[in-house]
Amino acid sequence: MKKITVNGGRPLCGEISVSGSKNAALPIIFACILTNGVSEIENLPDIGDVRVALKLLASFGAAIEKKGNVTYIDTRRLSYTHPAPHLVEKMRASTYLLGSCLSRFGRCPIMSFGGCNFSLRPIDMHIDACLTLGARLEGNVLYADKLIGSEISFDKASVGATVNAILLAASSRGETVIRGCAVEPHIDALVDFLISCGASISRKGREMYIVGRELHGGKIKVIGDMIEAGSYLALGLMCRGDIRVLNCPVDQMITVLRCIRELGSGVNIQDGKAVLGERKESKYISITAVPYPGFPTDLQPIFAPLLASLSGGEITDTVWHTRFGYLSALSHFGIEWQTEGNRALIHKSIIHNGSATSPDLRGGMACLMSALCATGYSEIYSAEIILRGYEKLEQKLCAIGAEIKIEDY
Ligand code: EPU
Repeated sequence: MKKITVNGGRPLCGEISVSGSKNAALPIIFACILTNGVSEIENLPDIGDVRVALKLLASFGAAIEKKGNVTYIDTRRLSYTHPAPHLVEKMRASTYLLGSCLSRFGRCPIMSFGGCNFSLRPIDMHIDACLTLGARLEGNVLYADKLIGSEISFDKASVGATVNAILLAASSRGETVIRGCAVEPHIDALVDFLISCGASISRKGREMYIVGRELHGGKIKVIGDMIEAGSYLALGLMCRGDIRVLNCPVDQMITVLRCIRELGSGVNIQDGKAVLGERKESKYISITAVPYPGFPTDLQPIFAPLLASLSGGEITDTVWHTRFGYLSALSHFGIEWQTEGNRALIHKSIIHNGSATSPDLRGGMACLMSALCATGYSEIYSAEIILRGYEKLEQKLCAIGAEIKIEDY
């Protein structure tokens, strides 16, 4: 297990670069299972979840090699093996085994898929998509002798179920229409990768059309991580730092940038670099997390300590109604709050140093941000949870003046 020791209150200033997106990289890695060839993936972030995904692929016989910033994944000699439970339990993206293993091997067990424990995380929509395309459930295992294109209709936007529907349809016989699909930038990134593998996919709004094909190896550069970028912008604003965020996927962050402006800071954009501008007096604001292109649920925990450090505000989460478990951890840093259903009231608070255990990936980052802004020593335990999604965290933060150390305990 890892712990982060922070000597907080240091001025933060300088350039911080955004890595490849976790939630774009993971579906692309699992999509390689569908292909027969060598894929070239540029800008894969070196984070916990990506390492687990690559280990799962290696367990099926994929040969993986990294040269500079490009990872080569050779899937020409794959064979089915039962996915290792200790890997599957580590992250949510292991649900992508459903689409990829059914497509390639014709079988996949339903396992205890891991991920942040902030809510019930049902997989009914994933299973419905598998059954609609011709899979059958026997005990706890899904089987598919052949997958046949069909119509899948989702009545709510699910990133994971959309990814699985795409993975299944891309190698099914015939055409599939997915209605009500998620439209996050990482969904389009997966589609771009599969098209480079020979897939036939197009999307019009929330409808996607896929004709199944045999797929060869493909090529993609993983898009920048909008959640990481939003985290560093929020940190800069919270610590009154002069932080410039490089490789910031600004086009995907319109709502987030608007929210930062509402909080009283200008954001100047130049060549993919986002620079926090002059600070004005901040206002009490309301944030509502909704599917893309709205404010992302993954940034609501990150904005909670920011609101507390400014004039307070309220956060409503319409995606994960109970994603507020992290607030108890923020109390250790003096942050005051109340919850009412799927809404949290974040009070203007005096943030002090403290010690907490990472409640989940983004909640852990919110604790770290609080510790960085408070004067004195703080400790964040179970920090490996934060490292599941933030690349070179210690290196990047120390380079802008933070005093943090990540150690085993
Ligand atoms: N849902 C169902 N049934 C399903 C699937 C989802 O009811 O079968 C519901 C969920 O309960 C939730 C909503 O649909 O209320 C949306 O969930 P979604 O399926 O979109 O979430 P996910 O695919 O499990 C991904 C990200 C999460 C992010 C959500 C929402 C990955 C690996 N994970 O999860 O990222 O919060 O989409 O954008 O892409 C994170 O990075 O910190 C993280 C938690």
